[in-house]
Amino acid sequence: MNFDSLNLFTLPTRVYFGYNSINYVGKVVKEFSLNKVLIVTDKGVRSAGVIDPLTHSLEVLGLAYEVFDDVPEDPGSQVVNDGVELLKQKGCNGVIIIGGGSPLCAGKGIALVASNGGSISNYEGNEKYKVSPLPMIAIPTTAGSGSEVSPSFIISDESRNNYKMTITGYKCFPNVAILDPLLLRSLPARQFIISGIDALTHAIEATCTNQATSLTDAIAYEAIRLMMKNMATAAYTDNLNSKSDQLYASTIANIACGNAKLGLVHAMSNPLGSYHIPHGLANGILLPYVMDYNYPVCKYQYAWIAEVIGITKPQMNLEEKATAAIDAIKELFININFPQCFTEDMVPKAVIPTMARIAMGRPQIKFNIRKASENDIIQIYERAFHGWN
Ligand SMILES: [Fe+2]
Repeated sequence: MNFDSLNLFTLPTRVYFGYNSINYVGKVVKEFSLNKVLIVTDKGVRSAGVIDPLTHSLEVLGLAYEVFDDVPEDPGSQVVNDGVELLKQKGCNGVIIIGGGSPLCAGKGIALVASNGGSISNYEGNEKYKVSPLPMIAIPTTAGSGSEVSPSFIISDESRNNYKMTITGYKCFPNVAILDPLLLRSLPARQFIISGIDALTHAIEATCTNQATSLTDAIAYEAIRLMMKNMATAAYTDNLNSKSDQLYASTIANIACGNAKLGLVHAMSNPLGSYHIPHGLANGILLPYVMDYNYPVCKYQYAWIAEVIGITKPQMNLEEKATAAIDAIKELFININFPQCFTEDMVPKAVIPTMARIAMGRPQIKFNIRKASENDIIQIYERAFHGWN
């Protein structure tokens, strides 16, 4: 443990988990004395009937609500404004966010702008707001973003070519997160995989930063163990135990990386968002290449991944265990049909230098355990176009 610098471990979000835990939401709304809540979601979640138990839980307690289901993938400033307008028009004083990463980001933005005024772009960065957001209850319907226990969220700025703004601050943690694995039953396999690989990236990156501690490591390695064991089954079968473990793992992965921070994968995936490549897809493609890059300084971390997922043999040395961990990630990708490289259809190779420049400006750069230069990043992007071999 490093006692030379000031370390902080924090989790202000209260987390409920269990089958049918969504039925508890009415009691939470009552406890927070919310007159009327805005339910922020997307049309897919609503039409799948996923919000029905939530509205039922409110109705049986006589609690008023309004539904805002206009959140698109990669939400921008405009949808945040629209949500705030509805919230004010209907007199809501709290927000329940139910959905995947996009509604969670939009809902946090709505809660923040509703209490501070102006536009979400005014609050880009860390602690740029004056007033706490409205109370937020977050209910994930994917097992990936971990946004339900994170103060950070991403909103596209339409006026800057959909540049992904990151907004964060201590008060932006949702007050309550409710993890109900039953909500994941209708999640399509592809979405399960993309969000699951994002969560796996959160856990692996959390072990390879200069902010990692024994506490964050304990959480991150357990998240990795659970996800490596359950990802494929959770995505491609109806096995509820696997879905539950995957949901739990994605939440604790974010608790780990919320404290240990993230590294090069997330710095490099940010500019790919401008090309509408889903966050989890961009991270997953980059992950093996960044693991290779970090290998010289992360052998111990990778070897420990190999230990916790149970693939080591007694005669293996540190290097062999570390290499086995990277191979296990690649094997998982093959098993779940995850893409192994970028293509020109996804993003033109010619923009690599621009993306590298943007990546160098991302906050995660300073946390990655191996200090990367702009040229290193260019080379990693180039490898990620070429493929593993
Ligand atoms: Fe992520």
